[in-house]
Amino acid sequence: MTAPKIDSSKVIHVKHPVVDRDLTILRDKHTNTETFRRVLERISIILAYHALKHLQTRTLEVETPITKTTGYEIDSHVVVVPILRAGLGLVDSIVRFIPDAKIGHLGMYRDEETKQPVDYYSNLPEGIESAYVLVVDPMLATGGSACDALNFLKKNGAKNITFMCLISAPEGIARVQNQHPDVRIITAAIDERLNNDAYIVPGLGDAGDRIFGTS
Ligand code: PRP
Ligand code: URA
Repeated sequence: MTAPKIDSSKVIHVKHPVVDRDLTILRDKHTNTETFRRVLERISIILAYHALKHLQTRTLEVETPITKTTGYEIDSHVVVVPILRAGLGLVDSIVRFIPDAKIGHLGMYRDEETKQPVDYYSNLPEGIESAYVLVVDPMLATGGSACDALNFLKKNGAKNITFMCLISAPEGIARVQNQHPDVRIITAAIDERLNNDAYIVPGLGDAGDRIFGTS
């Protein structure tokens, strides 16, 4: 099968020695739940730093002990939208930088047979139309869950959307780029492919199970 075509210039692929080391720990099937959570938190802070690069700022005057000067404050409302369950593992990294960020929730799981997302919950804050919306989910596999989430957010008025994930498959990137070319994708890894069960290869397995210790 030929690899799906992706526009790499529109994907922010975060490359960093610390990210590569941490991804290796997350991929390792021997990594226990406690370490997995700690490392996920650490790596997602670096992703969050990149995901927040496009926020608008406005200037203000600040008085240092020496003189007055120009400072900056964030001029965007940030709404973080984790795709449940696994997306919850990436929320705190954003909130560290933007403590007043609002959080929306989209609950969906992949049907084991069809691999299609099944929606079971949604709750979005007000003001999404003018917000910088950051959708977070560790895995972008077929792209079904991401596209479902993006469709829902756009139907509810979201315009400025970034999708932040840890590991993506070319298939998922291609699908999001085809259906939502306006959405920025930030990822720490672009893996080889999907297997017959639509899991990312090499991937890290089932992200939700690894974060929450279920199987
Ligand atoms: C995982 C992952 C994504 C989805 C990606 O969730 O967190 O939401 O699969 O796959 P896709 O790109 O093919 O749609 P899962 O369905 O396992 O639910 P969970 O987070 O509750 O474990
Ligand atoms: N969901 C996961 O959690 N992992 C994959 O590899 C694919 C979908």
